[in-house]
Amino acid sequence: MSNQRGSLMMSVLASGVLGVGIVLGSMWLLQETPDLDANGTEVSVEYGRALIRETSVLMGPNHEDPSMRFSGSNLDCSSCHLDSGTKPGTLSLLGASSRYPRFSGRDGVEGDLLDRINGCMERSMNGTMLSRDSAELRSMAAYIESLGDQFAAMGATRREANEPEAFNEPPRAANPEAGQLVYEQRCQVCHGDDGLGLQATLDIREGYLFPPLWGPDSFNDGAGMHRVLTAANFIKARMPLGQPDLTDDQAFDVAAYINSKERPHMENLEVDYPDRATKPVDGPYGPYVDSFPIEQHRIGPFGPIREFYRNLE
Ligand code: HEC
Ligand code: HEC
Repeated sequence: MSNQRGSLMMSVLASGVLGVGIVLGSMWLLQETPDLDANGTEVSVEYGRALIRETSVLMGPNHEDPSMRFSGSNLDCSSCHLDSGTKPGTLSLLGASSRYPRFSGRDGVEGDLLDRINGCMERSMNGTMLSRDSAELRSMAAYIESLGDQFAAMGATRREANEPEAFNEPPRAANPEAGQLVYEQRCQVCHGDDGLGLQATLDIREGYLFPPLWGPDSFNDGAGMHRVLTAANFIKARMPLGQPDLTDDQAFDVAAYINSKERPHMENLEVDYPDRATKPVDGPYGPYVDSFPIEQHRIGPFGPIREFYRNLE
């Protein structure tokens, strides 16, 4: 083949490729443009569902790509928001999106659903906030919003939470020693005699079959689950998994036991609740407006603390 013929063929080929390119390109423009973030990752409900179910695998602290290590623990969002948030009842994410934007006493400002997810990222997951334009944060929000639509379309029976009667706070301080017995009899079989849970496989990146309740890979001390009343509410409604039958006393005591154990510390907790009078009675870290000892904020009795704040109003 002479050089001339060769270059002629090349230019015919090239213009052919160009032509096909133009046709394909305009077809692509006619289709819906995918919503990509700055890293080229697509925002989608499916990705959001996967992130909530397999948080450890997709953005855990041991992810092979360091830029994807957003969570600081190998918990999944669904360790607390059961069935990826689709189970009606305590900590369900069905209908959650309709509550935002709303004022957060903890942050002292109004926040939207993205801010609320980031709250769990920094505290429950002991990780870092996701950028507001990231596909990860926007996909999780899109998924939670899609649950809201699903919830609105559900019949009354499917919306019903199949849970025991809600936790009713006993009028006394919780007793962590009594809680230890409950733990040994009802929780240890899954969560382990050291509270560190059971990994799904030998590779920690795969997350847990039974998540840890304390220790270095658990939620941090700024998390909602670190409040004894929040934990007791969840435990009474959901644990032992598949057989939630604890009494109020047992749920209260075991919640105090779990939260008496070591866990990661979050920095700057003292700036939470800029209006300190809005701090929940079981806020387990200071400073407080009142002068009750910190131990009473951790395990109660909460009656006298509530009384103090009622008189402030
Ligand atoms: C250790 C348990 C735990 C884990 C893990 C966890 N959360 Fe949460 N989440 C909570 C608790 C507790 C609350 C409610 C706190 C409160 O306001 O009492 C909450 C609240 C929320 C809310 C607000 C719900 C509403 O109805 O207002 C959203 C949204 C949410 N979490 C998303 C997530 C996402 C997404 C993840 C994973 C990145 C996650 N959470 C991981 C415990 C957890
Ligand atoms: C049959 C096994 C089983 C038993 C028994 C059990 N749990 Fe769980 N627990 C789980 C699983 C599994 C999860 C994560 C939810 C999921 O994957 O659906 C979980 C999640 C939790 C969580 C939130 C996630 C975390 O790591 O902090 C708490 C708190 C908890 N359990 C406390 C308890 C307490 C307290 C008891 C005893 C009263 C108990 N569990 C008994 C299996 C169990």
